[in-house]
Amino acid sequence: MYKFVIKGGNKLSGKVEVSGAKNASLALMPAALLAPGTYKIDNTPDLVDVSTMSKLMETLGAKVSLSGKLQTIDTAAVNNYEAPYELVKKMRASIYVLGPLLARYGYAKVSMPGGCAWGPRPVNLHIEGMEKLGAEITLDSGYIIARSKRLTGARINFDVSSVGATGNVMMAASLAKGTTVISNAAMEPEIVALGEFLMKMGAKMSGLGTSTLTIEGVEDLTPCDFRNIPDRIEAGTFLVGGAMAGGSVEVTSCEPKHLSALLSKLEEAGVKIVASADSIRIDSPDAIPPVDVSTSPYPGFPTDMQAQWIALMARSTGSSVITDTIYFDRFKHVPELVRLGADIEVRENLAIVKGVKLLKGAKVMSTDLRASASLILAGLVAEGTTEVLRVYHMDRGYEHIERKLRGLGADIERVQSDEF
Ligand code: UD1
Repeated sequence: MYKFVIKGGNKLSGKVEVSGAKNASLALMPAALLAPGTYKIDNTPDLVDVSTMSKLMETLGAKVSLSGKLQTIDTAAVNNYEAPYELVKKMRASIYVLGPLLARYGYAKVSMPGGCAWGPRPVNLHIEGMEKLGAEITLDSGYIIARSKRLTGARINFDVSSVGATGNVMMAASLAKGTTVISNAAMEPEIVALGEFLMKMGAKMSGLGTSTLTIEGVEDLTPCDFRNIPDRIEAGTFLVGGAMAGGSVEVTSCEPKHLSALLSKLEEAGVKIVASADSIRIDSPDAIPPVDVSTSPYPGFPTDMQAQWIALMARSTGSSVITDTIYFDRFKHVPELVRLGADIEVRENLAIVKGVKLLKGAKVMSTDLRASASLILAGLVAEGTTEVLRVYHMDRGYEHIERKLRGLGADIERVQSDEF
């Protein structure tokens, strides 16, 4: 077990390079189940979630390796179609193997993911999507068991915009007989990346990046090589960190157009922004005014940046309201930020943040990935020493975080700890 020990107060400045997108990698990897053979995916981040997906793929019979940023996946020997509870419980994105296994092999048995730290996260849309494509689904002893002869194209209208369900149906529909139209499809960049990967494999689709996706099923797909997109949430976390503890911070190897909702909120908060084709430089103001935020599906403000925004607002000059319209219970970081001296009240799905002049270092506990990020950012500006326990959450989604933050001038160490 490790903890982060942060001595707050250093200005952040300099350049930091963004890694490949975790959430795109977690979709691209299972897509390789759709056509047996070898794939090379560049710009893959070295993260615990990526190695959990690798383990799952290996359980299915695939070989997965990572050399630097280049991931090699060989799906030629896949011969098992069951995603066990032990892996799925560690990472909900494991549900992504459902569509590809079903479409390619006619059978999939995938453990139900269950709830997570910030409340229930259902998979009904994934199941309904597969049923619409003609699969027969039964739920047995905590497992989703899906069977089908060749899937058939269908019209699917999601009640809620879901990244995972859109991705799963896209993968399955690529090998279905006939045309699938997904309405209210997710428009997230990670879904666009998945669509481009599938098209490189020979899938036929149109409407990527819009809310209506049309997929013309094909008989066969072929393996391909691909370059993963940059992680917009990692980039956003450094930008917010820079705004809190800046300084002048330049985030490189990123995709500014994936960050437009965050950038316009940062501008409202008085942060000066200069974006080029693949980098963003920010200069932070002396004081941050309060700026309300409400999360919504892309291109809206991402729920995965909500916790970090609350950390930024914790030291703003006034009162702000941060609403999460995607995950109503995603506020586990708030009591921990309060331990650092923040003044935040949660009411239903919104947090009312009254900015304070000073945060003070304390021991705090990570509860999930983005909560950990917000606690680290708060620790960077808090007076004295902050200890963030349970860093394994952070390791799921941020590559070499302490090395990157140290490169910007932060005083942060990973220290072995028995505390849980
Ligand atoms: C993905 C991201 C996660 C991000 C989330 C929202 C990955 C691996 N993870 O998660 O980081 O926080 O998008 O941007 O890409 N829903 C249902 N039924 C379902 C599926 C979802 O009701 O079957 C609801 C959820 O409860 C939520 C909303 O749809 O309210 C959006 O969730 P979804 O986009 O599916 O999230 P994930 O794909 O799990």
